[in-house]
Amino acid sequence: MTLEIDVVCLFPAMLEGPLSESIPGRIRERGLAEIRIHDLRRWGLGRHRSVDDAPYGGGAGMVLRPEPVAAALDELRRAESTVVLLDPGGEVFRQARAADLATRPHLILVCPRYEGVDERIRDLVDLELSIGDYVLTGGELAALVVVDAVTRLLPGAIDDASTVEESFSAGLLEYPQYTRPAEFRGAGVPDILVSGHHAAVRRWRHDAAVARTKARRPDLLPPEE
Ligand code: ADE
Repeated sequence: MTLEIDVVCLFPAMLEGPLSESIPGRIRERGLAEIRIHDLRRWGLGRHRSVDDAPYGGGAGMVLRPEPVAAALDELRRAESTVVLLDPGGEVFRQARAADLATRPHLILVCPRYEGVDERIRDLVDLELSIGDYVLTGGELAALVVVDAVTRLLPGAIDDASTVEESFSAGLLEYPQYTRPAEFRGAGVPDILVSGHHAAVRRWRHDAAVARTKARRPDLLPPEE
């Protein structure tokens, strides 16, 4: 099955390059995902294809008007679509949400610019997502993050062993990895990794992932009894 993704934004070039490179590029070429990037100005108002205006009540910056977004969704939305607004006030985007979105047939990602969006735009979408507690100049980079994280989970997108390994250590930070050389600037490689004992390696990796998560991101672990 092909995951269809429509991205509606004001700077399509910010997405086109990155989504044509490397693994995302291959995912598209192989037809696992069909990604279309649209310029919101296509649905802009008047001769200047305007999409924003000054905020009622005054204040700095411009606010995205609802009509262009509504017109875009009227054209792109289908019964099975999930419409996502990228917004710093949205649900914080996590792996579980990426996995959920990877099972949907059609995503529409709406990327605002400017100081914010007219509040009535929120009524037009199914979900608001933030990629973290910082403010970007617009939703394009956030949409890239979401598309990348979602499409790599599509069946056949990457080596299946990688995603199986991830689910084994779900919710934990990655265990320490080593490759050649066996010694680098005085630092060696843990003996267990060259021992050939697969079960022991697996246990070591799991324990190391738990220890690292405890040390760096205790917030990811379930509360202790
Ligand atoms: N737009 C601006 N900042 C954002 C963020 N952190 N996440 C999603 N969209 C945004």
